Amino acid sequence: MTNKDTIKKQIRQVLTDKYQADGLDFNVNYPPLPEMGDYATNVALVIGKELRKNPLTIANELMNNLGKNKMWNKVTVAKPGFVNFFLNQNWLTAQLGIILKQGKKYGNSNEGKGKTVVIDYSAPNIAKKMHVGHLRSTVIGAAICNLHKFLGYKVIGDNHLGDWGTQFGKLIFQYKKIYGETIKKNITVEEMEKLYLDFHQEAKERPEMEAVARKELKKLQDHEKFNYRLWQLFYRVSMTEFKKVYDLLGVKFETWHGESFYHKMLPGVIAEALKKGVAEKSQGALIVNLEKYGLPPLLIKKTDGAYLYSTSDLATIKYRHEKYSPTKNLYVVADQQCLYFEQLFKTSELLGYHDKEEMMHIKFGLILGKGGKKMSTREGEVADLMEIINEGIEKAKVRIKIKNKNLSKIELEKTAKIIALGAIKYNDLSQNRLTDIIFDWDKMLNFESGSAPYLQYTYVRVKSIFKKSKDQKIKRSNYKLLKEQAEIKLMKDLINFPEAVRAAAEEYKPNIVALHLDKLAADFHSYYEQVPILKADEKIRRARLDLIRAVAQVIKIGLELLGVKTPEKM
Ligand code: ARG
Repeated sequence: MTNKDTIKKQIRQVLTDKYQADGLDFNVNYPPLPEMGDYATNVALVIGKELRKNPLTIANELMNNLGKNKMWNKVTVAKPGFVNFFLNQNWLTAQLGIILKQGKKYGNSNEGKGKTVVIDYSAPNIAKKMHVGHLRSTVIGAAICNLHKFLGYKVIGDNHLGDWGTQFGKLIFQYKKIYGETIKKNITVEEMEKLYLDFHQEAKERPEMEAVARKELKKLQDHEKFNYRLWQLFYRVSMTEFKKVYDLLGVKFETWHGESFYHKMLPGVIAEALKKGVAEKSQGALIVNLEKYGLPPLLIKKTDGAYLYSTSDLATIKYRHEKYSPTKNLYVVADQQCLYFEQLFKTSELLGYHDKEEMMHIKFGLILGKGGKKMSTREGEVADLMEIINEGIEKAKVRIKIKNKNLSKIELEKTAKIIALGAIKYNDLSQNRLTDIIFDWDKMLNFESGSAPYLQYTYVRVKSIFKKSKDQKIKRSNYKLLKEQAEIKLMKDLINFPEAVRAAAEEYKPNIVALHLDKLAADFHSYYEQVPILKADEKIRRARLDLIRAVAQVIKIGLELLGVKTPEKM
């Protein structure tokens, strides 16, 4: 239970006893000014509206009926009807012992127990390079997986690879033209991409190629031996490349069910759509008419009989529903596919493929280059993921060397990797995912607020204070001694961390955790400037060391949830 939950629970008690208003929905928020308390609720305004009573009167009644709680020592009422809660300082500082005791688990919960969440993310396409758009999906998706796991959900992170479909007919056609009926084991992803592009170039002059490519596709779909072996080759080579990226990013999936996995189920989907009257024929193709819902039709089978991206997505929903009965089925995919997911979810609903589960497209904007332009190889800006990551590692090395000349070569290598990958992920996760984000190494790698290195540096800083103190263990001091404004502020950041984790998971917004950590780090730095730690009297010194120990602990937990590692030195 978070602190907001505690307040809510106590309010609900009054609602039931006094107003018989059980199911009412209200907020508990952090007010913008200190005189408004540490938490404030709009509940009196909500009831006021419902019962047509003056909210101020209700707020006063509420305040008087609330009863006591160790957590707060003052409750006030403010116009037009807010109820404000002021934390009890002794209760607050006592939380430090609990936080330290919980260690790595601080902020977790079992609220997701017994519930399964499917998270469809990353999903690059075979025979093509993984690009920056897939990077966003991977980074955001992995963070959402971590957050849900931390809250006790069973998480199925699924990499829905684009590994089947029309492009393979074209690829096979072009391949055969160049290499004939041999398996070129050392083919690269670049070469595959080029084959595909060349096909399109040539097909402009010779449109009859399209029909032959479709035949190749059909043969593949019928598992004709050579075409299938070729597809396996493309799959294997691409996968080796993808895995390099995932290894570097430290991302693991529970399942890798790409489009090909659902291939055998597609005729069944079509048959069902026809039987249920959901699909109709249209110029030789099959569509789902969604006019009633204000949406354009969804194509589920082409004139030539080929299935589509949409067909396998429908099979996927059905499969997930039957296999996992998830409470949520989430798709972390770029916002270009917004309309598509609306059509897909509607069609699935009409087919009865899902019922209770929440279907959600977790969309995100583009990654833009420094000048705000789309990143592309043509513009000279590298869009290849491995190149981007390696460039970041080199740049991080230069910066670390300026800060710390004493790192060994191995340490430098290791730290630079942690810093560069952290910077990439944090740049993405610290911003509202719906906006386009700028990829600018200078900003990402600086050590100031708003970057991963800033948080990593804060963590290392706290660790170095401990080294100086020669004080490695938690001392269990008297935390009532923590009375400085700056330490009270830090304590509040610490106790509100679990709420940030929960909100980030519920709203699918990892940046809520990132912002919380950024504030915690900033409050730490100003604390450290204002208040002596190592030079303080023994008892206070111990309490303060424990306080900053908890700061480091929470930064580490939070960063880990975002998939960002913390170095021990930098
Ligand atoms: N492979 C697709 C792409 O690169 C993304 C797939 C997303 N997941 C899904 N179930 N449609 O655009």
